[in-house]
Amino acid sequence: MNSVDSVDLDRSGLLAPTPHIFWHEGTVAPETRPAGTSQRTATLWLTGLSGSGKSTLACELEQMLVDAGRPAYVLDGDNLRHRLNRDLGFSPRDRQENIRRSAEVARLMNEAGLIVIAAFISPMRQDRDMARAIIGADHFIEAYVSTPCRVCEERDPKGLYKKARAGEIAEFTGISAPYEVPLYPDLVLDTETLPVQQACGLLFQQLTLRLA
Ligand code: ADX
Repeated sequence: MNSVDSVDLDRSGLLAPTPHIFWHEGTVAPETRPAGTSQRTATLWLTGLSGSGKSTLACELEQMLVDAGRPAYVLDGDNLRHRLNRDLGFSPRDRQENIRRSAEVARLMNEAGLIVIAAFISPMRQDRDMARAIIGADHFIEAYVSTPCRVCEERDPKGLYKKARAGEIAEFTGISAPYEVPLYPDLVLDTETLPVQQACGLLFQQLTLRLA
């Protein structure tokens, strides 16, 4: 299998038109959809190491949004890998496809009127840029969960760091595979020092500002 370290969006063909396939336009205007308008939805993209707190923040924030009457849905890397993305592993190419498919799902959910909270390690800048391009920059908020690797490894909630150190898991992010820190994230949250409720408050604020 070809190993693709990074994707050049222009040359990748991932966003190019598909030959002999035609777009069928619907008649329902976004603002008439019951869940809200696509103008008032966004995808909050949480990126960070395994064990950094992405899923915890995502679920807590989802609850806050739903309680506040804002339809929201979590797309979680681990969960999607159970079904939609179960054929994918952790090579650079598979991670890229994982992000591509998940970003396409997020885009559809935004169009349907849902706020999406996406929780993926998404370690490569170019893959996160691809997600931004698929979802649309106006609807994309990048939050970097910056909890240090040392802390994630101490937490090791799934015992995976231990296995990675023992050489039982290859290409493990932070240990034997790279993580590229976001250059211009909208928000940086370190869950070593920031309590979950406070972090979610900041995420909620960021979302409401964007959707105002
Ligand atoms: S991503 O890199 O493709 O964005 P994703 O967020 O979907 O990853 O899945 C990450 C989860 O898969 C981790 O939280 C961890 O539980 C599990 N996992 C299994 N193998 C690996 C690995 N080699 N590297 C990172 N995470 C792994």
